Amino acid sequence: MAEAQQILAPLTQIPAYLQTIADYEIQAQKHLPDMVWHYLQGGAMDEQSVRNNLQQFQNIQLVPRLLNDLTQGSTEIEIFGQKFPHPIFLAPIGHQQQFHPDAEAATALAAEVLGSNMLLSTFTNTDMRHLKQENPLKWFQLYWQGDREKSLALVRLAEQQNFKAIVITVDSPHTGIRDRERRVFFQLPEGMQHPHTPAHIPLPELEAHQHPVFNGLMQIAPKWADIEFIIANTDLPVILKGVLHPLDAKKAVEIGVQGLIISNHGGRVLDTSISPLKALERIKVVVPADFPLLLDGGIRRGTDVFKALAMGASAVLIGRPAIYGLSVAGALGVAHVLKILKEEFEITMALMGTATVKEINKEYIFQDQPF
Ligand code: GLV
Repeated sequence: MAEAQQILAPLTQIPAYLQTIADYEIQAQKHLPDMVWHYLQGGAMDEQSVRNNLQQFQNIQLVPRLLNDLTQGSTEIEIFGQKFPHPIFLAPIGHQQQFHPDAEAATALAAEVLGSNMLLSTFTNTDMRHLKQENPLKWFQLYWQGDREKSLALVRLAEQQNFKAIVITVDSPHTGIRDRERRVFFQLPEGMQHPHTPAHIPLPELEAHQHPVFNGLMQIAPKWADIEFIIANTDLPVILKGVLHPLDAKKAVEIGVQGLIISNHGGRVLDTSISPLKALERIKVVVPADFPLLLDGGIRRGTDVFKALAMGASAVLIGRPAIYGLSVAGALGVAHVLKILKEEFEITMALMGTATVKEINKEYIFQDQPF
């Protein structure tokens, strides 16, 4: 008979063997049921994009400058006039109660303590009204609610709760084909609470001859005109998450989108979609020079953060690494993961001879083969 899986309780202290994001990855598996682990770790289809997101950073080498005076150094950045102590943000991740009972409340606490900007998912298990209102380092991630009225209602709530930007995820009108999840019959726990959205946006009634994808899900998916509607109805900057095509980036700029998150959703939606760094390089040349372009996917080291910024990112987001921390030790774990990356990034800046984030550019990296 198969032995019952031993699931470790969250740690209350950080042991010395947890020094890196890779250490946290190994440890996290011990704290999660198999089904949840595969949900977290897996991606779409053959998971090539999951692997490529990690690989993309290995193909870039650092070229340090020496002897510069760095005594006025700082990791501070500014986006939309808002100052952030460092460029390592927390990606929006739903259903965090699967990983730790304190869920987004723990993640938000860690973000606050470490000065990280948190993107709160529409699929949060924690009501946004329960997060610390006065903390300004938070953006709200909107999943389209099937219609304009319901979507705008969430934007209004986020405005009232002092969120500083609206991030609309546009890359997943259909969920990814996740074979790994299917093999373990992944489902969200029965009765899991989502205070701001139904767990599944209701589909329109279909006639027998209608197609479930094209007449169903694509019916309730957002379109460009819906993005324009949101922009016209909020004073907050609107950011699109998941843009990979330069023509979409151009179009976004034209309609008044104020920033993009270049992302393939951690390889979880469309397998073999272009690596975010490659997409960033192609998009960078079609948007205005100082247009905010953030990047997520594959950040595991402070050197990765540096490389993304050198390629033109304004900031980066971490997804799985934060959840490894949450799974291992709740708020303490997320805070430690952020601290590890932040310190690695600071030391990388020092060794690279860059005093400010603004100085980081392509002159500091070398690619054997250009993308
Ligand atoms: C949802 O956004 C997911 O990636 O699981």
